[in-house]
Amino acid sequence: MQPHEEEDDIVTSTVPFYRHGLGASDASRIASVLETPILTSGAVGRAVESQLCEFFGIENALLTNSWTNGCVAALLALDIGPGDEVIVPAMTFIASANVVELVGAKPVFVDVDPRTLLLTPTAVRAALTPATRAVMPVHLYGQMVDVEALAAELADRPDVAIIEDAAHCFEGSLRGVLPGQHSRAAIFSFYATKNVTCGEGGAIITRDASFAAELKQTRLHGMSAGAIDRYSESTYRHWDMFRLGTKANLPDLLAALLPPQIATIRARLGEREELCLRYEAAFSGSAIRLAENAPDATSARHIFTIHVPPKVRDLSLQALNTAGIGTAVNFRSVPTLSYYREKYGYGPNSFPESHQWGEGTITIPMFPGLTRDEQDTVIRVIQNEVIPLAESALQH
Ligand SMILES: Cc1ncc(COP(=O)(O)O)c(C=O)c1O
Repeated sequence: MQPHEEEDDIVTSTVPFYRHGLGASDASRIASVLETPILTSGAVGRAVESQLCEFFGIENALLTNSWTNGCVAALLALDIGPGDEVIVPAMTFIASANVVELVGAKPVFVDVDPRTLLLTPTAVRAALTPATRAVMPVHLYGQMVDVEALAAELADRPDVAIIEDAAHCFEGSLRGVLPGQHSRAAIFSFYATKNVTCGEGGAIITRDASFAAELKQTRLHGMSAGAIDRYSESTYRHWDMFRLGTKANLPDLLAALLPPQIATIRARLGEREELCLRYEAAFSGSAIRLAENAPDATSARHIFTIHVPPKVRDLSLQALNTAGIGTAVNFRSVPTLSYYREKYGYGPNSFPESHQWGEGTITIPMFPGLTRDEQDTVIRVIQNEVIPLAESALQH
């Protein structure tokens, strides 16, 4: 999809694709930052990093200005670059692969499990080469990849780092285990439609203190001290640069929006779960397919994505949009997009499961605050217009 194409729908639809829940008390949190001398990364961000450490039961957390820039900082901290390979699922958002291209390495795509749409240890094993330096399990739609099983599969390859793409999975878990416990790092997104949001933002968590120290530098140009450290004493302190970094720090103006959301995220998951169960009941037994959630997983229920036969996907999108319902496509299989197709010569059969799902996905409105009436409108349009289209496609 186009980066964040759903923004159009946020504004114009009768039932919007997404509506954020921020309000006056959040505005006053930003106003409080304006009263301090530090507008960039300072005490507010540090407090949020401590809150993240507590939430995830982990020693190190670093806020970033997006998942994408955070991941570039992580790849730079791992010294991944030209000649290196990073294994990425074909069914994901383009950012998961783009960051690998941005540091000059090669994304090696693998197909996903056709039931869950998640990366599997078996597929990773088959794609490993001596050049593999990292693997990026993507917790698609909020359901976690089995990172523990992946780590066990990679026990004989300590040179391969697991970097979790947890952009969809802040509050999810698998067998009670949260992101970050079996990997080098897990990276979150606080983009405008994410379960925790500050408009644009992200965070990296890691159990590895020395990796966190490298990240602190690659997050800020490679500098050995951030602004708050350079100016915290009355005399100026010189900084040095030992390695190349990017600019990925999150300003306090945005970090200020995060604490109340992190504090209430688990409570809000119940509302997401209820909305998803209503959709699942309404579409059960129909021609619409859904990705499966494993019984031992607690999905963060980031988005609700249905699958219709590819030949009626665009007609279905049109029917929903005409009825005033906001939609998105999450996602078209990344190797089918022009840049990757042309650069690496992939075709529809290169990653068939991802291709087939990616040609039929439609994401429908699902967020805390979606009213029952709004959800009933979405269900009605899908039952009256989309399901008949899907059924007729299956018959012909
Ligand atoms: C799976 C996945 N990974 C990465 C990203 C990139 O996140 P950001 O916009 O914070 O860079 C997204 C964004 O939507 C995503 O869906």
